[in-house]
Amino acid sequence: MKMMGVPKQPILEARQIVKKFPGQTALDKVDFDLRAGEVHALIGENGAGKSTLIKIIAGVYRADAGEIFIEGQKQVIQNTTDSRNLGLGFVYQDLTLVPHLSVAENIFLGTYPTNRLGFVKHAVLPDMVRQIPDALEMDVDLKKPVEELSLIQKWKVAINRALALKSRIIFMDEPTAAMTQEEVDQLFELIRHLAGNGKAIVYVSHRLEEIFSIADRVTVLKDAKKVETADLKEVNAENIYQLMLGRDFKDVFPKKHTFQEDKLLDIKNLSRGSSVRDVSFTLSKGEVVCIAGRAGSGRTDLARLIFGADKKDRGDIYVEGKKVEINCPTDAIAKNIALVPQERHIEGLILPMDVKQNITIASLTKLFRWNRIPFLSKKKEQALVHPLVEKTAVKASSLAQEVQYLSGGNQQKVVLAKWLCSEAKIMIFNEPTRGIDIGAKFAIYQLIHDLARIGVGVIVISSEITEIVGLAHRVLIMESGTIKAELQGDEASLDSVVQQLFA
Ligand SMILES: Nc1ncnc2c1ncn2[C@@H]1O[C@H](COP(=O)(O)OP(=O)(O)OP(=O)(O)O)[C@@H](O)[C@H]1O
Ligand SMILES: [Mg+2]
Repeated sequence: MKMMGVPKQPILEARQIVKKFPGQTALDKVDFDLRAGEVHALIGENGAGKSTLIKIIAGVYRADAGEIFIEGQKQVIQNTTDSRNLGLGFVYQDLTLVPHLSVAENIFLGTYPTNRLGFVKHAVLPDMVRQIPDALEMDVDLKKPVEELSLIQKWKVAINRALALKSRIIFMDEPTAAMTQEEVDQLFELIRHLAGNGKAIVYVSHRLEEIFSIADRVTVLKDAKKVETADLKEVNAENIYQLMLGRDFKDVFPKKHTFQEDKLLDIKNLSRGSSVRDVSFTLSKGEVVCIAGRAGSGRTDLARLIFGADKKDRGDIYVEGKKVEINCPTDAIAKNIALVPQERHIEGLILPMDVKQNITIASLTKLFRWNRIPFLSKKKEQALVHPLVEKTAVKASSLAQEVQYLSGGNQQKVVLAKWLCSEAKIMIFNEPTRGIDIGAKFAIYQLIHDLARIGVGVIVISSEITEIVGLAHRVLIMESGTIKAELQGDEASLDSVVQQLFA
């Protein structure tokens, strides 16, 4: 963001803020300063103290020590009315809108103009919306109930409500947690518009990649302390990750092994409509190739083409030097290609079947190659499935539990176990860690690493840049259906991938 004529004095300054909760310190002498017209990201791991800081400035909590200055004036913020009167606006993730009330009513919630009898003057509300200075344009009927709006329109309502209260600073606590990439992009447009009009934005997140795309400066909190405030032009993603976690992000991932170049998969000019256009790349035995790209870049479509889940328009696929025809997933499985899909409910699992059936299903033809009778003894099944369940750390009451009753993360692990059982030589993972907890994430990273080490060629599609960089021998950047860049080995740093994605 260009900051023209930015005043030297911060619009908001918090000094040495301390907040203690029983048994723990949530903020330990934290300093924070904010300038008009800037987007200031507040980043840190879960529990670092981000929301607590915001709530203290909002007057939701009282600080145990510290001072807050607004435009150089010391202020005592005792409650949310105080913060509102100081021009501080807060948009929380749940947006706190009233669903059945109209857009205009929500924008003026609690501050309605009333006539002498105390009735709300509904007729004048839409006009008042139009008069809010710097308001975001509402491209919907202002009388429409808010519940009928899209998520982004609801955000506009919530932001306009803050603007109606003459907020000069708008705080957003993890706004994108439940958003799709498109919605994130739209929200960023709104944020840029606000900053362009001189508003200051405090943007809380723990997504590193978002910070670089939207913020001017960043303050990193770790274990209740401020570790750094930096200009984003002067730091890179590695620096911030290091500050946030207190360790090099490379230490989070298994150490990358070296592999012999031995071409396993060769994709030539694979195309389908406008979603995948002339994609060519190779994959060696033991190599991990990660595909980065924003939503709609064609990553998932590419995976589906290789796996035969969609039909290609043209292009060729070679496995171990031989051209293969893949017209459906069965063809792909026969060529030892597996896809661990993103939508595991739709594609990866048969929900009413139990854990062991789901694990063995893709391998049945292989298991029965040597005997004609399609029957797997209980003992054999147990011997086969048990180690896989252990390895992937599936938490289920028993192997006979139906997968529909497992948690999302555990369902993901069953899908993994299923493909491990199939002994595929080429494994494609689409968002392997989405929605699973940190512990399970590391187990999956280890698993991917182990697979590659025994010679499996692995393709990982992910929206998490850290996991892409942490796992990949090579990173392909996809955009508009094509591979726009390829980063090899050390070239594939967090920073270079962030740059390629947002360039
Ligand atoms: N009302 C409360 N009572 C007791 N402890 C609290 C309260 N609110 C926060 N804490 C504690 O203070 C610490 C900081 O919490 P905070 O919510 O500020 O973290 P955060 O950085 O926003 O994390 P997240 O990324 O998970 O939202 C945590 O350890 C939390 O458990
Ligand atoms: Mg929080």
